[in-house]
Amino acid sequence: MGDTEQPSPGAPVRISAEEVAELQAIVEGCCGVFHGVDSSYKLQRRLGPRLKALGLSSFAEYSKYLREAADGPHELAEVIEELTTHETYFFREQFQLDAFSQEVLPAIAQRRRAAQRLTIWSAGCSTGEEAYTIAMLLLESGLFSGWRLEVVGLDISRKVLSTARYGAYGSSSFRSPSIVLPGRYFTECEVDGRTCHRVADEVRSICSFRQLNLLDRAAIGRLGPADLIFCRNVLIYMGAAARRTIVDAFYDALVPGGYLLLGHSENLLNLETRFENVHLDRDLVYRRPIA
Ligand SMILES: C[S@@+](CC[C@H](N)C(=O)[O-])C[C@H]1O[C@@H](n2cnc3c(N)ncnc32)[C@H](O)[C@@H]1O
Repeated sequence: MGDTEQPSPGAPVRISAEEVAELQAIVEGCCGVFHGVDSSYKLQRRLGPRLKALGLSSFAEYSKYLREAADGPHELAEVIEELTTHETYFFREQFQLDAFSQEVLPAIAQRRRAAQRLTIWSAGCSTGEEAYTIAMLLLESGLFSGWRLEVVGLDISRKVLSTARYGAYGSSSFRSPSIVLPGRYFTECEVDGRTCHRVADEVRSICSFRQLNLLDRAAIGRLGPADLIFCRNVLIYMGAAARRTIVDAFYDALVPGGYLLLGHSENLLNLETRFENVHLDRDLVYRRPIA
């Protein structure tokens, strides 16, 4: 393009390597997500329309807007919505859920039998399938009749949380090959002309959802103690500093003897951490030492 040539209104705004790096740093600084935010194609396609809506002509101007404009924090929340991955489905990573049901839950039931209270977080819960899966497994276990059970779903994205709170899902949420759907936990319903399955009241009544940035240690501290934290397929997108901050916050939030369960491709190998490894028959999980 010559110096005098202007981009046509329909043409995508180009992004340079420096502009990609700057946006990546802004997103990572806010929510820790680093991987998957480095594709110029993705940034152009997902954020291009937002630049145009704001009347900005370059990604450098957009980054400046995010950093300096009064509306910058609101716009940054939109960027995070656009760039983060929300993929999830019921009964994901069945081998780990089997270990949870058959090995971890009986140990927790034994330890908490006096209090008869159990709090589990689904940290980075996306649209809620993981939290509801956990709640169904608690009910199915038969170990907690009469207990006060709480499954708390946490996510930075307001959009996914509104889906989670309503709890109605189409077929893609049921794509786990090993899924044996406990029919009594769902009722058929219609959402926007589509047949969906809504999570039954019995399950929804023990689940709640909160908007929270996992990098916000003070907000995590205010949640109160957890007996177990699932944080699956979240840290994998983050840089080392964010992973360390979040894992430390989880450690402080867990009761002594509380468990941390990560996704199958995530581990604490390269992280200095106070957690101990617990080798179960079917999985490796992490535990805050009792003493
Ligand atoms: C790929 S989903 C994982 C969903 C579910 N845990 C699973 O494994 O099926 C990752 C979720 O983490 C959320 N997330 C990313 N960074 C976050 C942060 N700093 N605080 C809270 N949630 C975050 C995203 O919004 C997204 O919904």
